[in-house]
Amino acid sequence: MDITVFPGANQLAAAVAERLAGHLCRARSLVLGLPTGRTPLGFYRNLVRIAREGRVDFSGATTFNLDEFLGLGPEEPGSYRQYMERHFFRFVNIDRRNIHFLDGSTPDPEGECARYERAIAEAGGIDVQILGIGSNGHIGFNEPADHLTARSHVVRLRPETRRANAALFAGDADRVPHQALSMGMATILHARTIVLMATGSEKAGCVSAMVEGPLTTRTPASFLQLHPDVHVMLDQAAARKLADQVRF
Ligand code: PGA
Repeated sequence: MDITVFPGANQLAAAVAERLAGHLCRARSLVLGLPTGRTPLGFYRNLVRIAREGRVDFSGATTFNLDEFLGLGPEEPGSYRQYMERHFFRFVNIDRRNIHFLDGSTPDPEGECARYERAIAEAGGIDVQILGIGSNGHIGFNEPADHLTARSHVVRLRPETRRANAALFAGDADRVPHQALSMGMATILHARTIVLMATGSEKAGCVSAMVEGPLTTRTPASFLQLHPDVHVMLDQAAARKLADQVRF
């Protein structure tokens, strides 16, 4: 893993946005895998700024988001689809036909996951996957468990993950759905390039387990050690528990 440690979250967010803009300048028709959550907010803010400066063009890009709550339609305020509208899609010149999402309102979750896998394959696979990491070590909604699932699937969210998403539901963790749809481990690991962002001291433990720990289904992010092109972008607080040699 290639690890970069930034002084703070703002520098990290700007750097990840510049990196993605660089990818898009080299290949306009890039297929992007995109995350939600608190960590990527600065990244999206910087991407929108770079787009306003005329330095990045999304008209040829295709996007696939990592996950969505089960039972929430794309118009529901707590949905990740609406998060993406609020923070990114409505500000950039992406062709709406190229925005792909797992549909949380589907009556057939398994069929919806299979459709999503087909859509990713038909797009030619994901070129650049941007990831956050849950403090429990999850990526997408692949939660710590005795076993992991390769492809997009229905997941049962752990209590800490529901609590972490309470802000989308007026601070009320009880309103966070119990289930979600998520890309699987192979869906993520088949991306050609992976960029993972983590900020804050509450991520220091899972970052250390991901980078330096054994491969274990108890830390789903540890499987990123198997991928040949992973870039881990951290602020100082999230890098706190890593061995000295990766610091600068
Ligand atoms: P966070 O979520 O950015 O809100 O901490 C990260 C994740 O769960 O992937």
